[in-house]
Amino acid sequence: MLREAFPGLNNTVHGKPLVYLDNAATAQRPQTVIDAVNNYYLHCNANIHRGVHSLSEQATELYEQARMSMQKLINANSHREMIFVRGCTEGVNLVAQAFVRNRVGAGDEILISHLEHHSNIVPWQIVCEQTGAELKVIPMLQDGSLDISQLDNLISERTKFVSVVHVSNALGVINPVKEIIAKAHQHDVPVLVDGAQSTPHLQIDVQDLDCDFYTVSGHKMYAPTGSGILYGKEKHLDDMPPWHGGGEMISKVTFEETIYNGLPAKFEAGTPNIAGGIGLGAAAEFLMQAGLENIERRDQELKAYGEAKLSQVEGITIYGNVADKAPVFAFNLEGIHAHDIGTIIDHEGVAIRTGHHCTMPIFQFYGVAGSCRASLSFYNQETEIDQLVDALQKARNLLL
Ligand code: ALA
Repeated sequence: MLREAFPGLNNTVHGKPLVYLDNAATAQRPQTVIDAVNNYYLHCNANIHRGVHSLSEQATELYEQARMSMQKLINANSHREMIFVRGCTEGVNLVAQAFVRNRVGAGDEILISHLEHHSNIVPWQIVCEQTGAELKVIPMLQDGSLDISQLDNLISERTKFVSVVHVSNALGVINPVKEIIAKAHQHDVPVLVDGAQSTPHLQIDVQDLDCDFYTVSGHKMYAPTGSGILYGKEKHLDDMPPWHGGGEMISKVTFEETIYNGLPAKFEAGTPNIAGGIGLGAAAEFLMQAGLENIERRDQELKAYGEAKLSQVEGITIYGNVADKAPVFAFNLEGIHAHDIGTIIDHEGVAIRTGHHCTMPIFQFYGVAGSCRASLSFYNQETEIDQLVDALQKARNLLL
């Protein structure tokens, strides 16, 4: 059974079995990922792409295999399109500075959506400050979906780039990114998709989506923290100047000039997170073996059960009520602060996130400071949703 592959789920908290429902913040790791990281440190700890000695060659081999596992997971056309980064935040910032910054000026527009994580808002505000471009926002509707009917008004000849989240970390809403990409491409506008929350839940095919860039966060998809991938179409990555300068991203350096390395090394200056990258490859293999179609099916079961159970809790407001969503439940209980709920149910062993979930504009839209958020993985069980609901009842009894 897949759940048994995750040793972290066997922990206890305050003497109670852990009910881990904070997967959108970071997921637990399967033993195979932990083993891959340990194996690197124990048996082939060496720098990559640098040594002729055996250990370095073994480490390089593992790291490059990991890149190819990720390539397979998201169906990229070539390993040259797969840039190792620390996570989605770094991926978005790289594209903002190395691709978009040089292509926009006063009078131009960059389009994002109301459902973005701060990491897909702030990098664009920085580019706008640097260039005089303007940030535009696809609005959201009360049910948590994007108002796609506005796209025709929002995309014009002034639009130079679109950056949208695939799955909302706060609400779990799955955005129609393929439709947004197609619409943007009608105007020759390139699109970045923030995939931080999608790879743990959905089968991703970057060629089918036809996105120009796609960011992946390792720790959300059962891999080590500080690992991730920026996918970019080769033609864009080729055209882009490097972002960070240093070792590995060069083919020749003199004091007069530097000739840059080819892809993907051009964007991978310095010694990378080797163990993290190898762990990311192991996580990709784990997901492919588990089968994304099985994970998607399980997600839908958990989503339906969670919706039915949570909606019975007295005084609950659930945000983001659309059919197309991951098993993520943002909610408030009337008259109780989210932090108080989070603290009380932690004593029952139930781990959720409380606050604005790095998406302040979403909660400004709903007119609240934040919410509780239970975010589930395929390894969660219906009984854990029952435990969440029981713990919420206890919190109500205690606080109201
Ligand atoms: N972005 C992460 C979350 O949604 C940290 O919790």
